[in-house]
Amino acid sequence: MTGMQDMTGGRELVMVSNRLPVDRVVDEAGNTSWRTSPGGLVTAVEPIVQSLGCVWVGWAGSAGERLDPFDIDTMHLVPVELSEEDIELYYEGFSNGTLWPLYHDVIAQPEYHREWWDRYRKVNRRFAEHVAEVASEGAIVWVHDYQLQLVPAMLRELRPDLTIAFFLHIPFPPSRLFAQLPWRRKIVEGLLGADVIGFQQTTDAVAFRLTVERYTRAPALGNTIMIPETADAPSRTVLAQEFPISIDAESFAATARRPEIIERARRIREDLGDPRTVMLGVDRLDYTKGIRHRLKAFDELLADGEIDPTDTVFVQVASPSRERVDAYRQLRDEVEGTVGRVNGAHGTIGRAPLVYLHRGFSRDEMVALYLAADVLLVTPLRDGMNLVAKEYAVCRADDRGVLVLSEFAGAADELRDALLVNPHDIEGLKAAIVRAAHMPEEEQRRRMRRLRRAVYDNDVAHWAAGYLGAVQAAAEAKQAEPGGLVTEPVQVMTSFVPRSIEDRVRRLAALPSLLIATDFDGTVAPIVSRPQDARILSRAQRALDVLQESGGVRVALLTGRSLSGLAETGVRSEGWVVSGSHGSELVGLDAAEAGQAPVDGPLTDAEQQALARVTRRFERIFGSEPGVRLEIKPFGLAMHTREVPDPEQAEELLAAAVVLGEAEGMHVREGKMVREFSVRSSDKGTVLQRIRAALPAGPVLFLGDDVTDEDVFRVLGPDDVGIKVGPGETRAGERVPDPHTAAAVLALLAELRTGIVIGSSAPS
Ligand code: ADP
Ligand code: F6P
Repeated sequence: MTGMQDMTGGRELVMVSNRLPVDRVVDEAGNTSWRTSPGGLVTAVEPIVQSLGCVWVGWAGSAGERLDPFDIDTMHLVPVELSEEDIELYYEGFSNGTLWPLYHDVIAQPEYHREWWDRYRKVNRRFAEHVAEVASEGAIVWVHDYQLQLVPAMLRELRPDLTIAFFLHIPFPPSRLFAQLPWRRKIVEGLLGADVIGFQQTTDAVAFRLTVERYTRAPALGNTIMIPETADAPSRTVLAQEFPISIDAESFAATARRPEIIERARRIREDLGDPRTVMLGVDRLDYTKGIRHRLKAFDELLADGEIDPTDTVFVQVASPSRERVDAYRQLRDEVEGTVGRVNGAHGTIGRAPLVYLHRGFSRDEMVALYLAADVLLVTPLRDGMNLVAKEYAVCRADDRGVLVLSEFAGAADELRDALLVNPHDIEGLKAAIVRAAHMPEEEQRRRMRRLRRAVYDNDVAHWAAGYLGAVQAAAEAKQAEPGGLVTEPVQVMTSFVPRSIEDRVRRLAALPSLLIATDFDGTVAPIVSRPQDARILSRAQRALDVLQESGGVRVALLTGRSLSGLAETGVRSEGWVVSGSHGSELVGLDAAEAGQAPVDGPLTDAEQQALARVTRRFERIFGSEPGVRLEIKPFGLAMHTREVPDPEQAEELLAAAVVLGEAEGMHVREGKMVREFSVRSSDKGTVLQRIRAALPAGPVLFLGDDVTDEDVFRVLGPDDVGIKVGPGETRAGERVPDPHTAAAVLALLAELRTGIVIGSSAPS
């Protein structure tokens, strides 16, 4: 991979994971060799360390062995010893009997044992001590996964000079599930020792930030967690953000192009009896992967006669995993029993519909299998990402093959052109398998091209640039403030613009006239508890100023706030068009333009009376509820519940307000922890069309985060660009995770249009 060398700014990189990237294998004759460790962690991280080189601290995979550090290629490996008891209590126990099921939606029942927890703490300390010993001054330490969540805080205590990054490769559970964990606060505090915490999906990062707010005194501002000052340490920030992991797409694609691999794929099909359809599953043998559900669906399809066992073969590769943990042992027994039963019932001499391979394969063999498969079934019940799905897509440069993908895999966020399934719905799963087996070539081509593009758009180099870019920014901030006090949130310097958006922004930047419209709260100003405390990010303000000054651009701010509420935030909007109260207020067009975009007149008497009555009722019913804030607006009122302490209570209050507002004939709008009631219907989409009619023709770039912004996304045309900020359903064509990335998009546009670079620490 190119361009990686400067990703750490010359600092040493120290990787820390439970397992080293290679496992030590001793054969019967006592000869030792090293083989690649199982799992997606190594697949994703290997290309990065090949480029950068690193020290890697981890366990070598067998019990009670004290090994000296050794080198392989660009890596200096430092083994951490685990005794038989450590493996039982820390690895099989707390890591894989408590955390793994808890973090995977409790698909299996997590067990909570104090003895397991004690050992988890001790082993985490051992890892932290090893790292503290080997890391050079000012190094970047990258800690991986759920087995080592206490290491960041332990390491910070031992070596405050280090920059500490953590990446969780599996999902982070919703707050209500995490709440089960007796040691929940300790785990959160352990993680908060890091400077940057990376997650696979937006939902994981959001769940973590909510959990932090619930169990510590540290508030989250956007994706930055503010750690308050203590007697021993100054205040600091932790970036907790999603960085969806990926693969070295080009390296897989290059393997798939090799003639001997193509030949091997042909031979695999031949060996399988040249069936019409080869289906493939590739997983660690883990209960989260949905292998049972998949086999059940296949079995039923054979029994129903929907799949003909004489022309279809399903190859299930299941690499051995955690074989001493009860749930894994049971799974293996069950899967192997099912395979025997299915083949017994539907196989013929020389032909078995199910081929089950319980071992690891080389990269080349995996790629040949991908090329041989007409259908890949990736149907986990829950998976942080799933790299197998991405590997299949990039290997299929022939544009053939169908990916059936669980909506509960992180990869489903990016791979929208797969056949998405709910693996719990066996009928739905069966239907998708049959559809995949009979998909016309033209549809296969169209879907596969888009899948490949999605993986290339966020390949491992892009992922590493985003994640390590954030880490490097944290390291630089630390260097600038040796005491550790970081006044500006770290992510201000780090957000990276997704590649698909970058391409569209480049095209916009070259056009003669352009309307740049944006929502305010949650889009260019991070959400805060009290609406009056919200502030536009300095980078967004500066980018919008620069754009407004560049010829041919108009900036418009479309907010649900009243104009007076907006003024409280101190945003500088001179020269901009500003619409308040969801389109009911509009200022900033000159007289000629305004003639083209008339706003509605003032309220009629009847409307005023209706509004006064509703306001009185709301004040009487909700006015004294703790945490509720009623905001009176020119055309209605808004009820905010961000400060209601109990989230369930807040939801109930909002629901009651909606019932009341609707009974009073008000137009109701939903927002994040707010409901708006208006005597007149107006929306941001309508006002955008008015503004656009008043200005010279040109495309629109619109950024918004909330339900009310969907009215704008709905009216955008094919040349416009709509960007949703944050999670949730949307009609927008693009998405960025948070306001900081939204600001980065605006800064990129400003830079491309004017050449003025607006850094992440732009002065406001
Ligand atoms: P997880 O990290 O949970 O194991 P992923 O799908 O993200 O799941 O990653 C699995 C990785 O392991 C992929 O790179 C895949 O190619 C590889 N892999 C899975 N099964 C085998 C196997 N039997 N032999 C070799 N590699 C395998
Ligand atoms: O993220 C999944 C993960 O646990 C990784 O930490 C690891 O690489 C892989 O699965 C394999 O797990 P184990 O080391 O328990 O065999």
